[in-house]
Amino acid sequence: MVDEATENLIRVLLVDDEKDFRTVVAKRLGLRGVSIAEAAGGEEALRQLDASPVDLIVLDVKMPGMDGIETLGRIKERFPNSEVILLTGHANARDGVEGIKAGAFDYLSKPVEIEHLYRKLVQAHNKIRRSLDEKREAAFRERIKQQMVVAERLAALGTMATGVAHEINNPLAIVQESAGWMQQILAKPEFGDMPRKADFDKALERIHRAVQRARRITQQLLQVVQTQITEMPDPATLTEVDLHALVQECISLVEQQARLKQIDIVLESPDPPPIAWTDPYPLLQVLINLVTNAIQATDAGGRITLALRASVEQVQIAVQDTGCGIPQSDLSKIFEPFFTTKGVGQGTGMGLYVSWGIVTKLGGLITVESQVNRGTTFTITLPVKN
Ligand SMILES: Nc1ncnc2c1ncn2[C@@H]1O[C@H](COP(=O)(O)OP(=O)(O)O)[C@@H](O)[C@H]1O
Ligand SMILES: [Mg+2]
Repeated sequence: MVDEATENLIRVLLVDDEKDFRTVVAKRLGLRGVSIAEAAGGEEALRQLDASPVDLIVLDVKMPGMDGIETLGRIKERFPNSEVILLTGHANARDGVEGIKAGAFDYLSKPVEIEHLYRKLVQAHNKIRRSLDEKREAAFRERIKQQMVVAERLAALGTMATGVAHEINNPLAIVQESAGWMQQILAKPEFGDMPRKADFDKALERIHRAVQRARRITQQLLQVVQTQITEMPDPATLTEVDLHALVQECISLVEQQARLKQIDIVLESPDPPPIAWTDPYPLLQVLINLVTNAIQATDAGGRITLALRASVEQVQIAVQDTGCGIPQSDLSKIFEPFFTTKGVGQGTGMGLYVSWGIVTKLGGLITVESQVNRGTTFTITLPVKN
């Protein structure tokens, strides 16, 4: 991306067959901070633009070979976002009008007054910048729109899933109670020598564990929807959170798991460390979810990078892995409740759904970029205190 400084610099290609004229104009515009490249004719100009594009062109109309109007047409065809200022012969307004029709920004007649040319260049430069800003804004709006669509779908799925969770909680309670009741009975002395008693005990224990697992899932579901009902985070829970310290805490919790798989975890943080205005505990839960997923997706020898970034308005935590990646067709589904590609008992498909709910509640965004066999990056963007 072009940064602010490069964007502010006015860069121009000056096309004219008269070398002396070019030299004078280049020197005098150079004094005003304009960066100038030169070409002696239409063909040379097009070659130069191909090699190192600039958005602003000052073009003499009367040149041997390909004339200015023809060159203008070719430039506009190849670089529709560029702006061209034509230099016409004295009292030859016809060329100028024809040029405007062909898409020139404006025309000046020779002899050129430098101050005048400079003002025109600034105007054209501003026009280019404005349209660049508009394009960025449109892209931003499009991204927000897509995120809204995802958010709406997730909310609808959440509502449905909560209904299911409520319905399942009741029978789960009955299963658990009944299993407990059977365990109590089996513990009585008269059952002491019941055949295969140990097997029954084991089976009941398994029922207990399975019920607990199912309960955890339904509880997580209800928790996410709970967080979504109150859309804004509770201000009382928000504090300034040192992200470096928080990420370090997350790493210490998952280190063991990573070491077992021979995966390196590295933390990249600017100095001073970014401070977010957020609730640290749920955020830690999100980080653990993301890093756990990353560990599960990455083979031995891989690496997970936790990178922090800060700007004036927001802070970012990126969790990047060198793992298996996510196929394009799954990218739109991974935040849905119960979407998992892991085997039974391995994944519940709740991690990202819960994480999404938490980050949204905290007024942040969570996004993903992934390439199959290359790796995946999840990025959390959070507000700073204002
Ligand atoms: N870092 C990652 N690399 C590759 N796939 C991932 C990654 N994180 C998440 N996924 C995919 O998204 C799915 C959903 O993740 P999650 O909601 O945490 O549920 P679970 O981990 O229980 O499957 C995973 O099953 C996996 O297919
Ligand atoms: Mg997970």
